[in-house]
Amino acid sequence: MKSSATCIILAAGDGKRMKSRKPKVLMEVLNKPMIGWVLDTVHSAEIEKIAVIVGNEKEQVLEYLDKRGSNYFTFEQAERKGTGHAVMMAEKMLAEVSGDVLVLCGDAPFIDKETVLKSWEYHSKNGFDVTVITAETENSYGYGRIQRDEKGNVVSIVEEKDCTEQQRKISEINSGAYWFKSTALISALPELKNNNSSGEYYLTDTISQLSERAGAFLSDNPKLMMGANDRKGLLALNTAIRMEIIEKHMANGVEFVSTDGIIIGREVSIGMDTKILPNTVLRGSTKIGEGCIIGANSVISDCIIGNNVVLNNVQAYDTIIEDDVKAGPFVHFRPNTKLHSGVKIGDFVEVKNAEIGKNTCIAHLTYIGDSIVGKGVNFGCGCVTANYDGVNKFQTIIGDNAFIGCNTNLIAPVEIGENATTGAGSTIRNNVPADSLVFERGEVKIIEHWEKNSKRKRKA
Ligand code: UD1
Ligand code: CA
Repeated sequence: MKSSATCIILAAGDGKRMKSRKPKVLMEVLNKPMIGWVLDTVHSAEIEKIAVIVGNEKEQVLEYLDKRGSNYFTFEQAERKGTGHAVMMAEKMLAEVSGDVLVLCGDAPFIDKETVLKSWEYHSKNGFDVTVITAETENSYGYGRIQRDEKGNVVSIVEEKDCTEQQRKISEINSGAYWFKSTALISALPELKNNNSSGEYYLTDTISQLSERAGAFLSDNPKLMMGANDRKGLLALNTAIRMEIIEKHMANGVEFVSTDGIIIGREVSIGMDTKILPNTVLRGSTKIGEGCIIGANSVISDCIIGNNVVLNNVQAYDTIIEDDVKAGPFVHFRPNTKLHSGVKIGDFVEVKNAEIGKNTCIAHLTYIGDSIVGKGVNFGCGCVTANYDGVNKFQTIIGDNAFIGCNTNLIAPVEIGENATTGAGSTIRNNVPADSLVFERGEVKIIEHWEKNSKRKRKA
């Protein structure tokens, strides 16, 4: 893509029918706001100058844009007077750009890079002032209809509310995405009128204004124009893209016994012969190797997972899991955790901000936080790293092949040497040298013939 291109994303509308405190463009499809999908596509097409028109709940949209970390231009549309009016808000920026301007809707998430690039080629090759990206659909209700003349040239876009019976039957619709020559857009905007049934300044009217050099690029992406006006529409978007993604993974050799409750984000990659079991959500930048079994009932978010890993009922966030690790059920890996190959994690274990060495085994009911654990360590049941004194967090270090007995409390900061053993039920406050045994035992007292028993006997 020519990096001289500019993109304007319309995101000021209110979306009342969602019945949400969030603005419509922040409603999520597969855990990502709709405008996030649009921005991803614009970035992937290597368009650098991106402006977003904000209005309704603008603070929330601005906060989201900030969080993404790229530099976006933003313009406020204080009153919503239509899509043409929204673009007018960026007039100052437009005065300074040359080249082509891509206008997109923030509420149509499935615009894709190929369509953006191919339509731009079509637009520039033909020297058009404006090129509208269109799609054929069986259900054109609610969309602007593309009117072509007898030669097939596009002449105008007619909105649903303004359609005649005849026009309503047109199956080619406006996706809401357009390429403009910047000079043509600048000259067309002040000419827009709001004498239509909505009383709005329609961006679509630029087509008839510039019809001498207007083009329509018919995309073959059937989901291109899909948007959502209410919760039902949002679910339809999720369903459509969810199955498309699952099908893509099946084509790459990923196994699904059932697709029930399986939600996989667009950027997730999965190696072949990996099996994804029901109720598994794979999110963000997660990468999974080959021959793994993930699920059932797991959430894996921004994790890197090697080959032959088994995760059963696991929640994992920002975690690196090397080859041949087995974990679950009911396990929580919190951010900044790294499990080296061959680690075994059993039920009800939580690991946070910790590195666990090769072949270490943490079998049951254990919390490991802010720790560095060596290779071949064995934890008995119910061990805890006491990493927090209510104010600060401290580190626990455990050497290779140490044996941490059942119910050991490790009061950080503390270091257990290589090959050391802690006795069951001990609370360890001091560093323990390598190869030693440490235990803490209270005196055991046994009182025979205790009064309680005699009282009981009396009652009976
Ligand atoms: C628009 C098009 C229609 C097209 C459809 C595709 C117009 C007049 N109609 O209709 O031809 O088929 O998109 O989805 O353009 N927005 C603002 N400010 C406003 C109004 C809207 O920023 O004053 C933003 C909205 O947040 C939204 C986008 O523009 O992201 C589209 O607006 P919307 O009201 O949803 O237009 P549609 O009725 O869908
Ligand atoms: Ca819309």
